[in-house]
Amino acid sequence: MTNIAELLETAGLTGRGGAAFSTAIKLKAARENGAELIVNACDGELGAAKDAWIVAHHLHELIDGAALVAGGRRPHIRYAAHRGSRTAGLLASAGLPVLEVPHRYVSSEETALISLAQGGLAKPMTKRAPFVFGGRDSQGRKVPPTVVLNAETVWRVSQIHRLGAEWFRSFGTSAEPGPRLVAVGGHVARPGMYEASAGVALSDLLDSAGGLPPDARHVGVGGLGGVVLTAAEARSTIWETPGMKRHGGALGPGIVTVWNPAECPIETAARMISYGAGESAGQCGPCMFGMPALAADWTDLARNPTGKGRDHLLLRLSQLERRGACAHPDGVARFAQSALRTLAPEFAAHANHACQKGHKRHAQFV
Ligand SMILES: Cc1cc2nc3c(=O)[nH]c(=O)nc-3n(C[C@H](O)[C@H](O)[C@H](O)COP(=O)(O)O)c2cc1C
Ligand code: SF4
Repeated sequence: MTNIAELLETAGLTGRGGAAFSTAIKLKAARENGAELIVNACDGELGAAKDAWIVAHHLHELIDGAALVAGGRRPHIRYAAHRGSRTAGLLASAGLPVLEVPHRYVSSEETALISLAQGGLAKPMTKRAPFVFGGRDSQGRKVPPTVVLNAETVWRVSQIHRLGAEWFRSFGTSAEPGPRLVAVGGHVARPGMYEASAGVALSDLLDSAGGLPPDARHVGVGGLGGVVLTAAEARSTIWETPGMKRHGGALGPGIVTVWNPAECPIETAARMISYGAGESAGQCGPCMFGMPALAADWTDLARNPTGKGRDHLLLRLSQLERRGACAHPDGVARFAQSALRTLAPEFAAHANHACQKGHKRHAQFV
């Protein structure tokens, strides 16, 4: 049998859960440590839906991929899905061991899943080792080595095994090869799941879902851990890491959302930041206190865009970066930073009392 880690290395598969880490390196470390496998099918990011789609349409390939990763050690595989979701139901009815995850944003973070799998709380671990996580859970208990892979990553493993590394590399760019699922949603005619690859124009991706409507003004890429672009930027951006980096973003977990132009975008962003603040696991001071403060700063800036609020908010963002045990505050800070830049004209319109027609909810917000 082909060495699966070498095959994945040749294919250039990177994780589809958001961080885009080399799957071959994770797999090698997992094998060396006899690690258990958790297949992350939570779709926890705002707007995510691809893992549910894989479970609904390609469950057998997903199971094959998990067996390949675990080297046939089936008792050591678990499938994580949100409690009571259709995905959890489909996995259970196929006789698979389901790790039922509470409906919280940070519960689907990998160390939170490992903690939950060991009978602890679904909260990120605050002490850990890279790639294959052993260490201690949120209650200080020792946990065995475990590797967490996104469901799409595992599905791609089975495809690469079946169709070959060359097939995989015939999609995407040499730096970011392979097909990728993208959930295109929000203000589009045909929201749904689309298969794309790095290097496509974001406008082509949006065209598959019916195109960017003429009244659309903002497009989110990557959910709450992602960025927001103006419609003009979305029309000229290439969906690949270099193209997204220019806007402070990345490919992320395959989510493109056209914001509703009838809602004030400052309020849309406020809602997302407040949601992020409410989802802190409350374990790290900068996250527990800094995120609600960030949400309050955002509201203050919307009320008074001409004061010192912008500088205050930027300072707050710099105090959040890399200060949590998990990447949750980094993701929200990245989103807020991007929204602050992209929505600069809206803040200015606020200051001049010249908000665009249709943003009726400004009145409630300020
Ligand atoms: C707050 C938070 C939530 C996350 N939710 C998910 C999720 O729902 N599904 C997922 O695959 N990864 C999620 N991740 C990323 C995982 O921690 C992890 O990086 C991923 O499952 C690893 O799989 P991959 O190497 O195949 O990408 C989340 C990360 C953070 C910080
Ligand atoms: S950074 Fe926030 S969400 Fe992550 S572990 Fe710390 S308190 Fe929890």
